[in-house]
Amino acid sequence: MKLPNITILDEADKRLHKVSIPVEFPLSKYDKQNIQDMITYLKMSQIAKYAEKYNLRAGMGLAAIQIGIPKRIFVIVEELEDETFKDYIIINPKIISHSEEQIYVGEGEGCLSVNREIEGIVPRFARITVEAQDTDGNKFRIRVREDIAIAFQHEIDHLNGILFIDHIDPRNPFKDAEKYREI
Ligand code: NI
Repeated sequence: MKLPNITILDEADKRLHKVSIPVEFPLSKYDKQNIQDMITYLKMSQIAKYAEKYNLRAGMGLAAIQIGIPKRIFVIVEELEDETFKDYIIINPKIISHSEEQIYVGEGEGCLSVNREIEGIVPRFARITVEAQDTDGNKFRIRVREDIAIAFQHEIDHLNGILFIDHIDPRNPFKDAEKYREI
């Protein structure tokens, strides 16, 4: 695999706090290339030999704005077993329903744009149903749960200019932890 030529914006970059715009179809060649690049980058970041070779921090999701493209697109790469992956390409997503139950990542969320250790909990819905479009513009619905539901909500936040750290009060980073289930 060849490392894609992308630059991931750091949290200090103001573009990460802008609301991304809806995607129009058909996708341009450039949009398609960016989607493929994001997926390849995430896969390589999860494969030890590449992560080591290129000094990559492992990530499972990227929103287009993180590579400087202010469009409502995100991708998630889930490792199913050793070096087998499931890709999600999500365009113009809307959460159409969600569980009442909320959960959080006990060890804290991570983000390829946040290059420091951040403590604290970010409550997320345990299960969500999302309506979105695929790369051909076809609408579909997808129901996700647990860690993938968290990843979806983290990435949808990016489309709205929100970083996970924006949800954490540094003076009280574990506020109301007892109200949510830790995963
Ligand atoms: Ni992120």
